Amino acid sequence: MFHSAQHNITDFLIIGSGIAGLSYALKVSELGSVAIITKKKNSESNTNYAQGGIAAVLSTDDSFELHIQDTLKAGDGLCNPEVVKKVVEAGPAEIQELIKIGVNFTRAKDKLDLGREGGHSRKRVAHAADLTGKEIENALIRAVKSRKNIKIYEDHIAVDLITQHHLQNYQRKPGEKIKCWGAYVLDVKKGTVDKFLSRITLLATGGAGRIYQHTTNPDIATGDGLAMAYRAGARVANLEFIQFHPTSLFHPQGDSFLISETVRGEGGKLKLKSGKTFMENYHPQKELAPRDVVARAIDAELKKSGDSCVYLDITHLDKEFILRRFPNIFGRCLALGIDITRDWIPVVPAAHYMCGGVVTNLEAETDIENLYACGEVAMTGMHGANRLASNSLLEAVAFANFAAEASRKKFESNQDHEFPRIPEWSTKGVFDQKEWVIISHARQEIQSFMWNLVGIVRSNSRLEMAKARIDILLKEITEFYHKNPVTYEVIELRNISQVAELIIRSALLRKESRGLHYNQDYPKKDDQNWKKDTVLFEVESEEQKELI
Ligand code: FAD
Ligand code: SIN
Repeated sequence: MFHSAQHNITDFLIIGSGIAGLSYALKVSELGSVAIITKKKNSESNTNYAQGGIAAVLSTDDSFELHIQDTLKAGDGLCNPEVVKKVVEAGPAEIQELIKIGVNFTRAKDKLDLGREGGHSRKRVAHAADLTGKEIENALIRAVKSRKNIKIYEDHIAVDLITQHHLQNYQRKPGEKIKCWGAYVLDVKKGTVDKFLSRITLLATGGAGRIYQHTTNPDIATGDGLAMAYRAGARVANLEFIQFHPTSLFHPQGDSFLISETVRGEGGKLKLKSGKTFMENYHPQKELAPRDVVARAIDAELKKSGDSCVYLDITHLDKEFILRRFPNIFGRCLALGIDITRDWIPVVPAAHYMCGGVVTNLEAETDIENLYACGEVAMTGMHGANRLASNSLLEAVAFANFAAEASRKKFESNQDHEFPRIPEWSTKGVFDQKEWVIISHARQEIQSFMWNLVGIVRSNSRLEMAKARIDILLKEITEFYHKNPVTYEVIELRNISQVAELIIRSALLRKESRGLHYNQDYPKKDDQNWKKDTVLFEVESEEQKELI
């Protein structure tokens, strides 16, 4: 077992402390030493804010086949059916494991209380009232803290993965894959960049909602893992499929707080300010149509009316029930002066989930040796062109287990415990330009044009405009990064600009409308030419192309 407090050498390095990273940590800690690095406090993650719940086949009127069919239908032709089957079939056991580590799901008498969300043909969403993510995150952190060989490094942000690119005079043998030996990590409090070396590394860095001006995601969601993997040479795919949640709170102090889809699942009605409902004009399933349909319907109604928001009405539901079922949403809205038992809730769509990500196989292996990825950062083939509600917590926990199983085999078969001579973090050529204002300006500019030009409804000309802007910004930000001391803000900005560029490039490549990607210049689905993933990777040389 590798263990070195001084040099940060461990058997397993996990980047991210959401459901994916923590679930994997629990499994692999049975094999060796584990370091989890996380860029803020350990619970700060998308996981912590999940409301609706986690989907699995848990009732007698449901079946794997139905859950698989619902997932494939939402994915609009791009899911990998083998992956969907594997994840759905793992579902019930995953829920039992979560209960075993202490997750207290809401119960109705002697059974789990199951919620309903858009696109699901059955009630199959296990939840802890409307605070499911917090309940899961807290239980996982408690379990992780009880393991002696897991160490959590808070306020540590990964800068880049360590691969052959960082070695001096390294001769890659013909056919040898790109390898990962850990990551360079900024200790935010000390301001130093340290090497974290590991035999196996897991990327569990979550999503990228913060690339958009309006998002349900917390600050940490800046696409860091995706950008790091891309820079290191891994394939990334399907990044045009950004899921916009139809109902985030519209309020100056609301900061895009999510109003869970389960509110519609319990009978919430979408209304215009006149009180007229409108979902019946868009889909037979009305409020419970798939998310992309509901988000586009709201977008269309807002464009027609010029209003700033639509409304979600649950005032017809029993007050006691609302308080018991949605204590979090009730409390947050009340604090802003909205009593959801009496008032309609003002809502707008907001960026919510990244369906694409770092390409993995069924074992969560990426193209890079010793590098695994799971959770929102990964593109496993589960979600295709549109994710079914509450399938992401399920996918994250299931793939964390698949990754742990594959890592065990790798760990036990690989007796090569030597690391090459990996250089310390280099500050050569770095001087402080004292132009730090660039960072906040560039971040806001990217968020604003991603929202306006690469949002729910796209067009060729808007995407071209966005491409022209991001190309300039990416170049400027990359230059800034190389010339200035590395800071938390610079790391995030570099990743935000890289991921924005990848999203725009993917959206321009797909010349059709499918799932979450709607381009009004190609309003139809084109199965003949586009029933395939949009794959991007950075090619340094013909040699590297062959290695991937
Ligand atoms: P996260 O939980 O986001 O964790 C990522 C971790 O990586 C964080 O700890 C972060 O700090 C860390 N990190 C990131 N970059 C770095 C770096 N450079 N260095 C170090 N650490 C880093 N899904 C469902 O299935 N059901 C739901 O009900 C549901 N509700 C949701 C509600 C909201 C408001 C949101 C935002 C999402 C919701 N989702 C839901 C989606 C789901 O929560 C996420 O997809 C899932 O939690 C992702 O888990 P993860 O472990 O991959 O990433
Ligand atoms: C929600 O509660 O509406 C979020 C569910 C999800 O994103 O899966």
